[in-house]
Amino acid sequence: MSAKKLKKSPLKLPNDRGPHIPLRITDTTLRDAHQSLWATRMRTADIMGIIDAVDAVGYYSLEVWGGATFDVCLRFLREDPWERLDLIKARCKKTPLQMLLRGQNLLGYKNYPDDVLDRFVALAVKHGVDIFRIFDALNDTRNLEQAIKAVKKYGAHAQGTICYTISPVHTVAKFVKIVKEQIAMGIDSLCIKDMAGILTPIAAEQLVSAIIRETSIPVQVHTHTTSGMATASCVEAVRAGAGAIDCAISPMAGFSSQPPVETMLAIFEEMPYHANLDHDAIKRVCEYFVELAPRRQLSVARSLNIIDPEVLRHHIPGGMISNLRSQLVQQNALDKIGEVFEELPRVRADLGFPPLVTPTSQLVGIQAVMNVLAGERYKLVPQEIKDYVRGLYGRPPAPIKAEVRRHILGAEKSITCRPADLLPPGLPEATDNVDPKLIQKEEDILSYVLFPEVALSYFAWRALPTDQRPPIPADEELKKQKLMIAEDLQPPMPPQPFLSPTDYKSLQGLMNTVQQLSISELTIRRHDVSMTLRTDQPMTLAHNVVVSPASGAAVAPAGNGNAGAAPAAASAALPAPVSELPDNAVLIKSPLAGNFYRSAAPNTPPLVEVGVTVKAGDPLCIVEAMKLFNEIKAPVAGKVAKIMCEHGKPVAKDDPIIAIVPAA
Ligand code: CO
Repeated sequence: MSAKKLKKSPLKLPNDRGPHIPLRITDTTLRDAHQSLWATRMRTADIMGIIDAVDAVGYYSLEVWGGATFDVCLRFLREDPWERLDLIKARCKKTPLQMLLRGQNLLGYKNYPDDVLDRFVALAVKHGVDIFRIFDALNDTRNLEQAIKAVKKYGAHAQGTICYTISPVHTVAKFVKIVKEQIAMGIDSLCIKDMAGILTPIAAEQLVSAIIRETSIPVQVHTHTTSGMATASCVEAVRAGAGAIDCAISPMAGFSSQPPVETMLAIFEEMPYHANLDHDAIKRVCEYFVELAPRRQLSVARSLNIIDPEVLRHHIPGGMISNLRSQLVQQNALDKIGEVFEELPRVRADLGFPPLVTPTSQLVGIQAVMNVLAGERYKLVPQEIKDYVRGLYGRPPAPIKAEVRRHILGAEKSITCRPADLLPPGLPEATDNVDPKLIQKEEDILSYVLFPEVALSYFAWRALPTDQRPPIPADEELKKQKLMIAEDLQPPMPPQPFLSPTDYKSLQGLMNTVQQLSISELTIRRHDVSMTLRTDQPMTLAHNVVVSPASGAAVAPAGNGNAGAAPAAASAALPAPVSELPDNAVLIKSPLAGNFYRSAAPNTPPLVEVGVTVKAGDPLCIVEAMKLFNEIKAPVAGKVAKIMCEHGKPVAKDDPIIAIVPAA
């Protein structure tokens, strides 16, 4: 082609583009997009304000339910997720509704019994779910089998899923093998789920081509724009034969969400792939969310960078990063985030390269945090990690490292069967456990089985007369955020000493009179008017000692062993009085900030009582941190002399929790 001719050729291709290949687009705006960008805080009223236009667009399906939406509805929005589904269904005349189901984990973080799964799927179909995208975090097809069966039994579309990840054991051949296993189980289509946004265009092309070459299953690609590759990867996937992709409306797209539908349509405009969507309806939806977004997004969940190139190294899905960050803030260790990112791939390799998606992202992430915080790998191992090593989540993609397994389980053997085969039916017990006065329908029982505490708290809230209900947590968050923004707008205060040297001297003098000791650490926070006193040895403060220097410092009365878990609002963290303990008493301190529990599970007796004799290694209590349960074990044999925390109350890191008098 001559230079002259090249210059003349139009940039836009002529409209005559040969064959028209239909392209299906699933809209994730009402589920994954707000889960990724708004910490799942979209409300049913927000959805109902635009649902007619969304339905009019002509999408292949709308992902509107599942993932984290169920939990967040109950916990933060005080909404019934089943009612949300009914309301959407009543208005979506044209577009099939879709949900994301975590296989045998349903919408929770562990495996549920088959009877629970069957009823859950039956009710979800009854309330209007047409397509179930079913995944297992470990790609263990045994965990998908019952869900696929139930979805087919109730007449809905079962979409199988491979969770895409990169590791030495995740090859194209291995993924194709997993797809074939799911096809044998009866799936109607297959989704390549790239939750972290690390699927490169070339990998997308290779994976889709291999699946299409080896099977005849329709392929859909779900990806996230976290690393910036998603639009290109979707194009390559479609060119390789994927017939469907996931997009979100542009104000709800980008960052850790899906690629924008408007962009994808513009790209495919010049290719033979046609989605036939209504551009006017898309524009109406776009304008709606442009206006709504600033009123819904939580500033803590907001990503500062449009593109996160780091994800290509650590492979952690976007939601998990903000989670890790907030957990580290709670542990007052945000400065350790770099170390956690270094440790995470090592933990993942130790545990057999699980893809990082709920719930494995949580497990691997928290173990990495604990390894870093404890300063020793696997010194603290949450119950859930022990269960994982036992095989109770399923079969990891590669064997767990032998020395890690030995360290965590000792001589105990892991299970080899499908984990849910070990679970007794769950519905009869659940029905017995809940106060019938709080239950309005069968769906409530399912909500309770999935999220017992959260559901009960919602039921109790719902049972109150409308004018007596406390404000919903999501509104409180926004109010707090507004206050925080207002505070940011204030001119910064010049730094002022919290305690004058005389205040400090008199405080120290006071302490020394109470008991001869030295203050080894004195933390003073100016804004929330609180202080932390730490001493080299157990100390006693006279009860109700309140120190009120001119500048307003206050020390909480001794005996308040529980400091707030959130350091940002830490109250005075004074050790509980332990003067009555013998000199040789061993004080056990909380290894993490979290919640203190005396029993291992709800409705079970406390692990120990004062006066009982324990062996070294016996479980004493639980400190729940970052949603995982850490058993605290007796460091020595002896007698439990004192329990310093209340069941269910927060503890700060290093708070004394239990004292043991060692056996002579
Ligand atoms: Co996603």
